[in-house]
Amino acid sequence: MLRAVPVDQPIRAGAPRTNFWGFNGSVPGPLLRYRKGETVRLTFQNALEAESAVHWHGIRVPNAMDGVPYVTQNPVKPGEEFVYEFALPDSGTFWYHPHQSSFEQVPRGLYGALIVEEERPIEVDRELVWLLSDVRIGDDGLQIEDFGRVLDIANDGRVGNEVLLNGRAAGAGNVLEVRSGERIRLRLINAAAARIFQLELHGHAMNVIAYDGQAVEPHAVERLVLGPGMRADLVVDCMQAPGSRFLMNDTHRRSAGPIASLVYGDARPLRRQPLGAPMRLAPNRLPEPDLAKATEHYIMFQGGMRGVPTMGIVDGKPVRTHELMERHGLAWTMNYTAQHEHALMHEPFLHLQRGEHVVLRMINETDFVHPMHLHGHFFRVVAVDGHKEARPVWRDTVIMGPRQTLDVAFVADNPGDWMYHCHILDHAAGGMMGTIRVA
Ligand code: C2O
Ligand code: CU
Repeated sequence: MLRAVPVDQPIRAGAPRTNFWGFNGSVPGPLLRYRKGETVRLTFQNALEAESAVHWHGIRVPNAMDGVPYVTQNPVKPGEEFVYEFALPDSGTFWYHPHQSSFEQVPRGLYGALIVEEERPIEVDRELVWLLSDVRIGDDGLQIEDFGRVLDIANDGRVGNEVLLNGRAAGAGNVLEVRSGERIRLRLINAAAARIFQLELHGHAMNVIAYDGQAVEPHAVERLVLGPGMRADLVVDCMQAPGSRFLMNDTHRRSAGPIASLVYGDARPLRRQPLGAPMRLAPNRLPEPDLAKATEHYIMFQGGMRGVPTMGIVDGKPVRTHELMERHGLAWTMNYTAQHEHALMHEPFLHLQRGEHVVLRMINETDFVHPMHLHGHFFRVVAVDGHKEARPVWRDTVIMGPRQTLDVAFVADNPGDWMYHCHILDHAAGGMMGTIRVA
């Protein structure tokens, strides 16, 4: 059972309580853990005064279980329930959150992790799940309820003033105690509405073993950029001396400071050399796109505060940019179209044939970063600004830099109408969302 309810909890010891909304009375919601191939059966109960639903980010569910109001189901009204039931085809790090007024409901605290274990997990000493997020709160601890301001919608989105790690204030004071010699698997999830993290871990290699839940060839990175919606699985060998301490820092230009401290206990090292066990995960079976026979489709993105003045189509009618913002509260277009959430049952902006091999060329004509997410499928990022990627990774959410062009490829094998949107949730609310029909 997953029950959405108001919940008051402090973000740090001694702090005033913050008025969140949470699943099962906590922020984040319960950590859901399954084995690959298992079936999830969960009743969602809406004990809020707002309509809602639950979306399973990254899980290749049948369309009717995707949890998108107005597209795959009716909104779940206050006091009502909805039963979700679907199999888990992929192992990996996933998460869940509402898909209704998500620019408000997610930062209010409605999110949780969904972990699907591999048939044969890799060997580690400890596994941790870190849900990163943020809130905008005042000195009284209460949320500043300025959701959906055009100023945020047309810029970087609504970035909070307190970063949260598993619902508690992040920062150097957030201590992870480690033992010298131990190997940790760290599952990172960015559940923030708009904040992009650029993580650096002092004194340790961050070995990436999966992006968005899908295995990659293990490789060490200096910094890890995680946009909203994105995940990374890391293996960290803690080989420093007992008693030492290190920071995990966020070096993004909008950073609110360090995320956590790694503090070595005094216990004698568990081992002197890093664990020899392989880090490589067995890959999930995903349908491989054949670029030679793929059809190309284009999506052009325009808008934003400093964007090229253009026009947009709203509810089938052309509208000038300033009216787009002033009259409709919309600031972004995809292929000249801007949509409101409740209008999503209208025409999909792309029609794909079931089984079609597809290259989506995403052309960002804006000055902003957009983590673009597709439901129901994984795609390979095959080219950046026309340059082929040597090792195209699988993703369900990809960061599209300002003025950048990305080619992503996939097989449209999952029938239904699938959301495709920016995961900066204010951008999505501001028009950067639509559906892709696979039929
Ligand atoms: Cu994480 Cu359309 O969602
Ligand atoms: Cu965006």
